[in-house]
Parts: sequence; structure tokens; C-alpha cells
Amino acid sequence: MAISRTVSRAELLEPVHKLPREAFAHLPTALEEAPRLREALGPGAPRILVKRDDQTGLAFGGNKVRHLEFRLADIRQRGATALTIMNAAVSNHARLHTALAARFGLSSHILKVPSSHDHPVNGNLLLARMMGAHVVDGSSDDPETLNREYQEMITRLESEGHTVYDTVSDPFSTIAGACAYLIGTVELLEQLDELDVNPDHIFLVSGASAAGLVLAGKLLGERYRVHAVNIGDQVDPANLVLDFSNRTARHLGFDVEITTDDFDASTEYGHPGYAQPSDKTMEAIRLAAQTEALIFDPVYTGKSFAAVIGEMRKGNIGPEDTVVFIHTGGTPNPFSFSDELLAAL
Ligand SMILES: Cc1ncc(COP(=O)(O)O)c(C=O)c1O
Repeated sequence: MAISRTVSRAELLEPVHKLPREAFAHLPTALEEAPRLREALGPGAPRILVKRDDQTGLAFGGNKVRHLEFRLADIRQRGATALTIMNAAVSNHARLHTALAARFGLSSHILKVPSSHDHPVNGNLLLARMMGAHVVDGSSDDPETLNREYQEMITRLESEGHTVYDTVSDPFSTIAGACAYLIGTVELLEQLDELDVNPDHIFLVSGASAAGLVLAGKLLGERYRVHAVNIGDQVDPANLVLDFSNRTARHLGFDVEITTDDFDASTEYGHPGYAQPSDKTMEAIRLAAQTEALIFDPVYTGKSFAAVIGEMRKGNIGPEDTVVFIHTGGTPNPFSFSDELLAAL
């Protein structure tokens, strides 16, 4: 079903503001011009504005701090005492949920998916441990085994008297991010209004945040194109964004159906795989750091910015275009990749 009419910004936000939310993020985040980065990319480069969602204020920040405002209220309403998480060492999700637990008096339990970045303990995993995460090592990277071990962890916590909030599969938890980015979109559009800019493209890592930008754009009738960049070689980003955006629309009562025509879902910049940077990832990280002191990372934003460079080089984006790049965070991750980064510099 196509959308019957567009809505105003106030109409978009009305049902979102009815959801329980505890505000603690540092908002609005800055929107910064990146002229030296543009110059370094050559005459074909678009105007680049960077939305600094890496600076949302909780334990190194990131896009997920916006999501956590909704999740915290939900966690409290349900009387949960323990957060369960299943992620790899480089996970920002695990670090930021542990930060939430530390700050608001909950306990955090991570089933850690084994990966080549487990040792030495650094970056996100080090921060999660510093903030008191209880980390259980997954015995293999086989998804079935991990799911079984994760369920065992939940059962154990419940038998110990905890009320568990399962951040991996709880239905509201998985769309909290898209709800948060409806607000994030309006915040961004207001900043763009002040600059008198109508952006052509918005680039960010594929996921719930991207789903929020896609849904908001369609409901508001905005012309920007969202590029939801896949950062691995396994998850199909189109399905992920479709699932999150359509479930969020239904949750909030919007009569709209997001389809794959509503956004771009590139898979080419995720190669060779999750947490495996390519030369393109490293080029994006080096250029952003050396021209604007922007810290991108080898797992997430290095890949989403590599997509900006790649689409420019293919001629899909040109000097007449304005690109908004959402810096979704991940800034502790370079510390887990020091050898690879030094070699690439
Ligand atoms: C830095 C960063 N950006 C983007 C994402 C994308 O996911 P979402 O929008 O669902 O948080 C993640 C998820 O782990 C992330 O850590």
C-alpha cells in the first residue's frame, strides 16, 4: 500500500513523543561542513555535511544512545534488572548497553561471539569490562550454538531472580532505534533549513537508524535518498531496513509501506566481511582523519564513508550534490585495529 498523503513534521513526531522515553543524550548533535575532506576527494566531490551522532554523550557516544532513551523507559516500565546482549568484541551495542546498565543501576550480560579481535582486550570490549559487564565467552561462532548458549544465559539469570530484557530479540527493542531516528531526522532537517540546504543523499550504516531516516523521508515527502550501507557480507541490508521501517510504521499507526525502491542498499562496501576492513575502508578512515580530524572506524563508519567515495567515483554523485553523512559512532574500534591501521597509513 502506498502512502496516501504526506505528513507534517509535527504529525510525524506526535506518536513518537507518546512513547515512553527518558532523555539523557546530548542533543541536538552538531552538523558540520567538511570542506577539506571534499577538497581531498577532488573536483567531482559533493558538498559533505557530517551529522555528529558520534557525540551523543554516553561513554564515547554513537547513534545507539538515541535508541537507548526509548529502551531505558521500556526497561523501567517492565521492571527489568538485567540486560542480555550477544555480540562480538568490537560491538558498540554491547559497550553502550553496558554503559546504560552502569549509569542506571542494571546489570549487563554479554555472550561474546568469538572473533579475531578478542585479544588483547581493547576498544569496546575493554570499555564494557571497565563498566562492569559480565562477559560469557561463546564456545563457537556457529549461530545455533550461540543461540542455545544465549538462551541458557537468560534462563540462568531468571533462575537467579533477574527480570531479563533481551536486547537481541525483544520486538520493541529492535525498533527503538528507528523510532529514535524519526526524531533524529527532524532534528537534522531543522539544521538543514537553517543552512538553506536540501540534501540529495544521506549515507549511513544499514540498520534501525537508517530505517528511521527512510521512513521519515517517505512520510514527510522529502527528496533525499538514503544509502543504507551494509558493513558485512551476511545480513541482507534491504530486508533489515524494510523489516525495521515497516514494523515501526505499524507500531506508530502510519499507513505506509516501505519498499526496496525507497532507498539504496549497497552490499559492495561490506567486503570482505564484518569487522574486516578493505583498502577502501582504510582509505576512507585515513582521508577523514587527516583532513577533518574525523575518527571513523574499520567496522562501521569507515565502510559507510567508503560508500560515499565509491558512489562519487562511479559518477552517481557529483559536485552539484549535497551529501549528509551520519557519523554513527564506533570511535573506540580503531584501538582494536592498531596493527591494521598503522599498516594502512
Ligand atoms: C557505529 C554503528 N553504526 C551503525 C550501526 C547500525 O545499526 P543500528 O542503526 O541498528 O544501530 C551500528 C550497529 O551496531 C553501529 O555500531
